[in-house]
Amino acid sequence: MIPDTEIKHQVREFYDQVGWQTESDGFYQNASYEDLRPVSHDYIHLCHLRVLSHLNPSGRFLLDAGSGPIQYPEYLEYSKGYQFRICADLSFVALKEACKRIGNHGFYVVCDIAYLPFMSDCFDGEVSLHTLHHLQPEEHVRAYLELYRTLATSGKAVVVNGWDNPTLSIFMNFWISLYERLYTFFRPQYKPVDLGDSFSSPAGLSNTRGTFVRRQNAAWLQKEVGNLVPIKIWCWRSMSVRFLRTFVHERFAGKFLLRLIYWLEETFPHFLGKHGQYPLIELAKN
Ligand SMILES: C[S@@+](CC[C@H](N)C(=O)[O-])C[C@H]1O[C@@H](n2cnc3c(N)ncnc32)[C@H](O)[C@@H]1O
Repeated sequence: MIPDTEIKHQVREFYDQVGWQTESDGFYQNASYEDLRPVSHDYIHLCHLRVLSHLNPSGRFLLDAGSGPIQYPEYLEYSKGYQFRICADLSFVALKEACKRIGNHGFYVVCDIAYLPFMSDCFDGEVSLHTLHHLQPEEHVRAYLELYRTLATSGKAVVVNGWDNPTLSIFMNFWISLYERLYTFFRPQYKPVDLGDSFSSPAGLSNTRGTFVRRQNAAWLQKEVGNLVPIKIWCWRSMSVRFLRTFVHERFAGKFLLRLIYWLEETFPHFLGKHGQYPLIELAKN
């Protein structure tokens, strides 16, 4: 087994040297895992804003655990009603970039989210987006407990992280693979969507395109975390980026399809939260 410290060192190096470097398109390398095409813009925008309805709208301190550089404009909305946003990250480059965006509104702390260097009960709100998956499985529980410990009474926290092989993605991946095989057969020049598999490197250590990632499933979360702290599972986004890039296109009523998906997510948030690709996990302290 690889020691935690080695993994964290490698994750930090990856984000400092690759993930938070700007590419020729003007976006961070990390944004290549997102669907930034115009056809998906409204859907992605609304999904990002979903976080707001699970946070207290105002307060003194909002913790952003694994803040990165606060890379999308919607992320700025989360702390608009708060006096300060505390950006916590292993990556110094991430925090320097975050500081360029929010300046004096922020405090910037290089730290590990599994060992938060903050007093108990101090944050009125907390967000942690796409970060817990960089921890070893045993530390996932620890990170949830740390978020809960540092949350103030009446505070609310939101964690977003992809599930490991959720039912809906297994189903969709079947159709995506079939579509890709047929398409390649008829048009050999067709290139299937490549999100860089190494992003989730099985050996645990990175190569040039990815870093350490371990995802969990809904049953694990409910058993290991739900028995210790109160959690609710909602839908952040049910469809994977691979699905969007394969099936959602302007010329094939892509916007309409995404409006339909969004409506389904709003109508069945718990079901699609558990079985879709990305849940929104809400923690509240009474
Ligand atoms: C995929 S990025 C997500 C950044 C941001 N939350 C977003 O959604 O754009 C993960 C971030 O978490 C940070 N990170 C990874 N493991 C961490 C840990 N154990 N403690 C603190 N930050 C960590 C990385 O340095 C990176 O900036």
